[in-house]
Amino acid sequence: MSDSTIYVIFGASGDLSRRKLIPALFNLFTKKQIAADFQIIGIAGRSWSHDDFRRLSHESLLELGGVTASEVDWNSFAAHLTYYSGDFNKPETYQFLKTKLAEVEKPGSNHIYYLATPPEYFLEIIDGLAKTNQLSEKEGWRRVVIEKPFGSDLQSAKALNQSLHEVMDEHQVYRIDHYLGKETVQNILVARFANTIFEPIWNRNYIDSVQITVAEKVGVETRGKYYDKAGVVRDMFQNHLLQLLTLVAMEPTSSYKADALRDEKVKVISAIRPIAANEVEKHTVRGQYRGYTAEPNVAPDSKTATFAAMRFLIDNWRWQGVPFYLRSGKKMAQKVSEIIIQFKTVPHRIFPMQADFCGSSNLLSLCLQPDEGMHLRFEAKVPGTLAETRSVNMDFNYRDEFGPNSLPDAYERLLLDVSTGEASLFTRADQTELSWQLIDPILQGWDTPYAPPLSIYEPGTWGPDDSARLLGDDQCEWEQICGKN
Ligand code: BG6
Repeated sequence: MSDSTIYVIFGASGDLSRRKLIPALFNLFTKKQIAADFQIIGIAGRSWSHDDFRRLSHESLLELGGVTASEVDWNSFAAHLTYYSGDFNKPETYQFLKTKLAEVEKPGSNHIYYLATPPEYFLEIIDGLAKTNQLSEKEGWRRVVIEKPFGSDLQSAKALNQSLHEVMDEHQVYRIDHYLGKETVQNILVARFANTIFEPIWNRNYIDSVQITVAEKVGVETRGKYYDKAGVVRDMFQNHLLQLLTLVAMEPTSSYKADALRDEKVKVISAIRPIAANEVEKHTVRGQYRGYTAEPNVAPDSKTATFAAMRFLIDNWRWQGVPFYLRSGKKMAQKVSEIIIQFKTVPHRIFPMQADFCGSSNLLSLCLQPDEGMHLRFEAKVPGTLAETRSVNMDFNYRDEFGPNSLPDAYERLLLDVSTGEASLFTRADQTELSWQLIDPILQGWDTPYAPPLSIYEPGTWGPDDSARLLGDDQCEWEQICGKN
């Protein structure tokens, strides 16, 4: 198999390409992790020259990607970049691309087609590539990377999967969820399955509940057009939050192979108790930040939720009766992504703990961002007292342990995996569909009189006060350890 690889980026003039893909490819290049013989062909609607593409990519490297490049490194990387303008709706674009590829490729070259475009072009592009015979793996492998959102409901996700499978095999499809490329997210399985201390207590006998928070400080910024249709549930829950839940809840696999991992994930999602449309008020909360309707390209009377919280139950032996609380929102107090494993409280108190007992159960925090690491909260004796206790933390921090630049951007890892054919961190067709199957009734319920109220919350807060309602009487509050200091 040839080591020569051509990356074709559809939508190369867009934000994703400039903010994430080019910086990630550049970093892989300087780390010599990319095939020695590679080309990057950008293709998008704007009529840029090759030089425009190189210059603008260079500018955004530092500005958007936060990457500093020496002139020598940049120049040698830029020599691999070319750009063509093309209309994705026109069949001739694909024929033209084929000709351009033929001009640079070596016999047996591999191709990665990265669809960094709005989702309405996905089918068009796949069809164009198929009709010009660019997906056949006769002479080197062909892989297609598809960004989210993968469909907007179960029906559209199924239709998209079906169209993909008509022209290529599942092993050629890489559905990206960039959360899986984060080191701290991959560390969830390492923490669980490379240690012996957690697994015996990782179940309903010791765990009281699980909280997953993905909060952002930013609003919708320039993405009003997309976001107003999607909302927080499609944007964050159907993919990132459910992925995090599966990593916490899945059973150990016998190996770290893509299909073994994906099989277990699918089992978890299948075991989540569906929330029926007429139960959404009990299990979900929704909110919109004040000022959202004045954002560019957002309908002035928009009812789109920018915050949601949900309670899920998993019907299997390990998790029966353990609630999983998920919440995510924009314009919140802080950017923080954290998983809190809340352990049960002691069966009998012999020490005079705080009267309401809040905040004194043991917690394990998997801190995904910003202070990436893990924290264990437990009770310790306050010195000089008879038997007073206080919660203290035992901390592991990636940056302290592995150095300030030890965490590569998620896209680096994901692009590397596409080029080596490692599919563990990509979502298989059945998982995308099962996730939609869970999400669809919730969104439908939100369109009925059973819907919870759409509460308006102030920017810079933790969302509607209502979200504490979900936690029920025996829970104190949403916990936070990550990013607090
Ligand atoms: C994207 C969503 O998938 O994830 C965005 O579309 C969101 O709305 C982003 O801002 C959050 O990612 P991260 O890595 O910054 O937590």
